[in-house]
Amino acid sequence: MSTTNDIDEFVARAAESGKNATDRFRQRESAGSETDSVRVSRLASRAIQAINAVVIDERVTYDEYNALKTWLIRVGEDGEWPLFLDVFLEHSIEQVANEHRSGSKGTIEGPYYVPGAPEGPWNGEIPMRADESGRPLVFQGQVRGIDGTPLPGAKIEMWHADSDGFYSQFAPGIAEWNLRGTFLAGDDGRFEVHTIQPAPYQIPTDGACGQLIAAAGWHAWRPAHLHLKVSHEGYELLTTQLYFPGDPHNDDDIAGAVKPELLLDPRPRASEDGYVATYDFELDPV
Ligand code: DHB
Ligand code: FE
Repeated sequence: MSTTNDIDEFVARAAESGKNATDRFRQRESAGSETDSVRVSRLASRAIQAINAVVIDERVTYDEYNALKTWLIRVGEDGEWPLFLDVFLEHSIEQVANEHRSGSKGTIEGPYYVPGAPEGPWNGEIPMRADESGRPLVFQGQVRGIDGTPLPGAKIEMWHADSDGFYSQFAPGIAEWNLRGTFLAGDDGRFEVHTIQPAPYQIPTDGACGQLIAAAGWHAWRPAHLHLKVSHEGYELLTTQLYFPGDPHNDDDIAGAVKPELLLDPRPRASEDGYVATYDFELDPV
């Protein structure tokens, strides 16, 4: 047993995550949409004013200003802007984007979504290694409209970390689509996905975000979670996450993305090892 090597490997894998998140984001988002100059001016002025107000209020020194510059440069060099923004800002963006909905609650997408995961039947197994570790988890439920109409053929995209807290395509050494799958609901809108329970996730500790977290004495944890995108023609796409009761970080998620409606209620399976968790999705019509 070599603890030092385990830790080295953990750090080495974490180091790649931020950089990969930047590359991925660039591939998905082209130049960015045009925003009209009145809006740019308004938002940029308000953001700059807000930061200036902190400087005056807090009597920020030149040493602190230079530490900030050094750190901001490093966030870019480490490719950690997607990580930083998704942890500290996306929850508010999501709140504004989805406050009109009356169906299921959404939450942040985070930096690790990849479109196009392999498609399986409504009762499929998510792609995983033959010796994938972690407690078996059957995730099942029904997709409906907010009026209760079942939505046959609804698309359920699911991605999550493995039992070490790592995501395929972002940490090295994990098969491309591991623990990433697309499932189409059956005739009655029902689905059943076989997977394993993910581990809690730690923001990479070796990059700029980890440096901030350590310097501030915060913790770097997100509770264990399943990521989902649920969609059907004529309905708004739902991007959400589901959490496991009892996780110590459900109450202090560093990304502020947990909501009480997003807690699963996993129950032990009758005859086999592991859990079954049932969750129904209600989509808002467009
Ligand atoms: C981050 C990672 C996640 O797995 C997630 O769901 C949200 C944010 C991050 O490192 O920024
Ligand atoms: Fe995540």
